[in-house]
Amino acid sequence: NIKGFAFDLDGVIADTAKFHALAWQKIAEEVGTTWTTSLAESLKGVSRMASLQIILDASTRLLALSTAAKKELADKKNQHYQQLIVTLTPKDILPGMLKFIDSAYDNGYKMAIASASKNAPLILSQLQLTDYFDGIVDPTALKNGKPNPEIFLRSADIMSLDNTQVIGLEDATAGITAINAAGQTSLGIGNATVLSAANLIYPSTESVTLANIAHDMKNI
Ligand code: G6P
Ligand code: MG
Repeated sequence: NIKGFAFDLDGVIADTAKFHALAWQKIAEEVGTTWTTSLAESLKGVSRMASLQIILDASTRLLALSTAAKKELADKKNQHYQQLIVTLTPKDILPGMLKFIDSAYDNGYKMAIASASKNAPLILSQLQLTDYFDGIVDPTALKNGKPNPEIFLRSADIMSLDNTQVIGLEDATAGITAINAAGQTSLGIGNATVLSAANLIYPSTESVTLANIAHDMKNI
């Protein structure tokens, strides 16, 4: 019996993937890495430092950067990114998600945020969604990022629920793997081929409704 939802943020609630991409693209150009859409896709759900490493590994230059130099590049990306996300308003909530969150809240479901982003509190506040959630998992307190289940296990703790009572919502494969490993029901939003490991798959946020979920849960 489902009693709560654990939400990824970027690409599930907030339309921020474009901002992450713009900010990383500047760093990629600086270090000699060609920016492609597949590179952008591979960074989804990946932590800030791990994302930087992927960009550095794809560089045509022979780079031997110190930890301090890497930290500086990651900070620079985050400064670009934060300049973009302060422009977010409730209009940047992905289609249908405000309605979904609002109806889940009205129906007594618990809700938590399971995002790798350290900017999650700022983004939720810009979108005026903070009060809907029982809590935000602190990504700095985790030993392992997605696809490790740790972040989703913590979200169930925050909601005081058993993992079997939780549906995790994700747009990235690493997230779906994490939800499945946590023993929760995985709901993937996006391409069905990419997200084939998900228990429930919806093509876009617009199809994520309590009615659709109740209907589709009967078939899994
Ligand atoms: C999410 C996004 C990633 C981002 C990560 C860390 O998982 O999908 O693109 O790198 O959060 O975000 P942060 O805001 O802390 O740099
Ligand atoms: Mg995401």
